[in-house]
Amino acid sequence: MVSIIVAVAENGVIGDKNALLWHISEDLKHFKALTTGHPVVMGRRTYESLGRPLPNRRNVVVTRQEIALPGCEVVHSLEKALALFPSDEEVFIIGGAQIYAEALPLADRFYLTRVMHAYEGDTRFPAWDESAWRLVRSESFPSGRDYPWPFAFETYERR
Ligand SMILES: NC(=O)c1ccc[n+]([C@@H]2O[C@H](COP(=O)([O-])OP(=O)(O)OC[C@H]3O[C@@H](n4cnc5c(N)ncnc54)[C@H](OP(=O)(O)O)[C@@H]3O)[C@@H](O)[C@H]2O)c1
Repeated sequence: MVSIIVAVAENGVIGDKNALLWHISEDLKHFKALTTGHPVVMGRRTYESLGRPLPNRRNVVVTRQEIALPGCEVVHSLEKALALFPSDEEVFIIGGAQIYAEALPLADRFYLTRVMHAYEGDTRFPAWDESAWRLVRSESFPSGRDYPWPFAFETYERR
């Protein structure tokens, strides 16, 4: 099973200059709780922004380059990344925009953190057709412990 996980600002922005624009500790915990023990697949730029493999997860990095990254499996397409895992394994696509765009048509589940604030940034989540997805879970927060704006965790499954 292919799951997308992403945090998106209300204007569609997900990052700037290869970094995140916000720090929401609840969202980091949510991400860790969902992905730990499962494979994570990311584009090379997202790997660079993390700077290290995520612990307790198989880390797969998609790149066109011939490179070795310590603690990661390097592949040359999203299809090759997904082919590493049996179909009953939940594989998390963790970004960024290029990889999300390729993964959206293939994804079965979509974990969306809606960040209810607009940010200036150079990277946006691709347009997605909400009518193709059914909202199965939603939890809203007026603010975070260390974050001033509202946000919500939403889970969608493909109709
Ligand atoms: N808000 C969130 O939840 C979230 C999550 C993740 C990332 N982000 C943000 O997103 C931004 C990064 O996204 P991005 O779109 O710039 O980069 P990206 O998708 O992380 O990585 C792009 C790279 O992936 C490789 N790639 C893409 N398509 C490929 C294909 N078909 N075959 C082989 N390799 C392929 C290429 O690597 P090579 O150039 O090495 O060939 C390409 O340069 C950052 O700002 C990051 O902070 C936000």
